[in-house]
Amino acid sequence: MTALRSTLDTASAEFAGYRDAMLAKLAELETEHAKAVEGGGEKYTTRHHQRGKLLARERIELLVDEDSPFLELSPLAGWGSDFTVGASVVTGIGVVEGVECMIIANDPTVRGGSSNPWTVRKIFRASDIALENRLPVLNLVESGGADLPTQKEIFIPGGRLFRDLTRLSAAGIPTIALVFGNSTAGGAYVPGMSDHVVMIEERSKVFLGGPPLVKMATGEESDDESLGGAAMHARSSGLADYLARDEPDALRIGRRIVARLNWAKRGPAPAPVSPPRYDEEELLGVVPDGLKVPFDPRDVLARVVDGSEFDEFKPLYGTSLVTGWARVHGYPVGVLANARGILFSEESQKAAQFIQLANQTNTPLLFLHNTTGYMVGKDYEQGGIIKHGAMMINAVSNSKVPHVSLLIGASYGAGHYGMCGRAYDPRFLFAWPSAKSAVMGPQQLAGVLSIVARAASEARGQAYDEDGDAAMRAAVEAQVEAESLPTFLSGRLYDDGVIDPRDTRTVLGLCLSAIHTNSVEGARFDGTGFGVFRM
Ligand code: COA
Repeated sequence: MTALRSTLDTASAEFAGYRDAMLAKLAELETEHAKAVEGGGEKYTTRHHQRGKLLARERIELLVDEDSPFLELSPLAGWGSDFTVGASVVTGIGVVEGVECMIIANDPTVRGGSSNPWTVRKIFRASDIALENRLPVLNLVESGGADLPTQKEIFIPGGRLFRDLTRLSAAGIPTIALVFGNSTAGGAYVPGMSDHVVMIEERSKVFLGGPPLVKMATGEESDDESLGGAAMHARSSGLADYLARDEPDALRIGRRIVARLNWAKRGPAPAPVSPPRYDEEELLGVVPDGLKVPFDPRDVLARVVDGSEFDEFKPLYGTSLVTGWARVHGYPVGVLANARGILFSEESQKAAQFIQLANQTNTPLLFLHNTTGYMVGKDYEQGGIIKHGAMMINAVSNSKVPHVSLLIGASYGAGHYGMCGRAYDPRFLFAWPSAKSAVMGPQQLAGVLSIVARAASEARGQAYDEDGDAAMRAAVEAQVEAESLPTFLSGRLYDDGVIDPRDTRTVLGLCLSAIHTNSVEGARFDGTGFGVFRM
């Protein structure tokens, strides 16, 4: 085994400066996370409690095993939109009776728990994670259905919510609905499509149309209880499999259902775990503020991987991409980590080879992003940078082992794709507060626009408006900078969350453990594996 020796000078002024900058970003992040936890705010939270009901997060806390971790996903969904941060639903992976489950809990304090466009996207993402990683799904339902003012954006795509539930079931992944309150209209299909349904006496209300709608449609006089009450569904319609006395009883029954699933993981068990030799706390001071100065990703790995042990592959070739083998919480990983930012032909070829090796040995891959993209320029184009980059993207796209991506610094241009960005379906993608992602850096983007505009005006024989150009550049730079930040990207569901660097090892361990609920198998080299590699 080869232990990494970190060269990070934790006594230096740079380290202290980078650490302070990271702590400031974490404080801002905390403020945004607090908004998600606050949900609908004091008024609606108090009203909810006064009704004798638990909040979404309180329900989750009672559902999961005592003192077990909960990996919350997409907590900033909807950030930067008109909707409440968190998008009126809490999703995450929690352990119930020893089984890692996907938990999806409506937050009834935010507009009655209704689903807006970001809610729907957040639940789609949770379903995808459940399907790929074979996680049983627990829906804690209390929702006013579609957010009616934005129905045009959710009604048609939102049908996937119910389709996903039955597809999970068809894939042998159990789905459980615990209904705490309203589950009206389309929402009625959440229990309707689930394998197991628990309802609560005098609390759950599940109907396609409430009394006013029924009156409008058919003239029939009815009431909530006879139309969709829990007792009715348990005794007459048969939609409720279990009738609970109250919320804690419903959560208890939910746990019993999971206990009876006879669930077993399919992936290999982890090896014995040893902690890194360096302090995770020091991860705060690794990334330079503003990303102008390069940093060594081995300083990150030394504080994340088991025993700081890392067997580097091709350390002398294509040195701006570090590749090698390690373990995180006992799970083997192949690591691809950018160093010094740029991907050249050598790095691309090295990555393609390394990804194939990981597939050959069924080893999950971990991508640590800090790249400004593939190298441009005459020599590099003539040297085949396009086909070499394509080779790396081919390998990433067709690799079948699970991928986890972590954006720690820059993730620009096609480099974001080659390093398994969101569109390349990593099983999980998290970002540090220092991460930035866009088609290119803000200055470069503004500069390109300026050059293009200048050439166009010269071609028209007009004088170029220099003042206008400066204003345009400043505006574009500010806009792209704001759109590159992790809170913005997280708000749009382009990652699964922004994490504290000090939690990296824990978060990766939870992801890898969840991933191993499914089997782990690489692509094969029998024609069913990779696309044609352009040499
Ligand atoms: N879309 C948009 N906003 C909604 C909403 C929906 N589907 N359901 C509730 N809200 C809003 C309410 O207008 C209210 O806003 P306000 O406080 O700013 O006035 C807030 O959410 C809380 O609703 P309220 O009715 O006070 O809460 P409640 O806990 O007493 O009742 C419901 C919650 C869900 C039972 C009730 O609001 C309801 O029946 N909503 C409509 C359900 C429906 O028919 N949906 C059709 C979906 S296809």
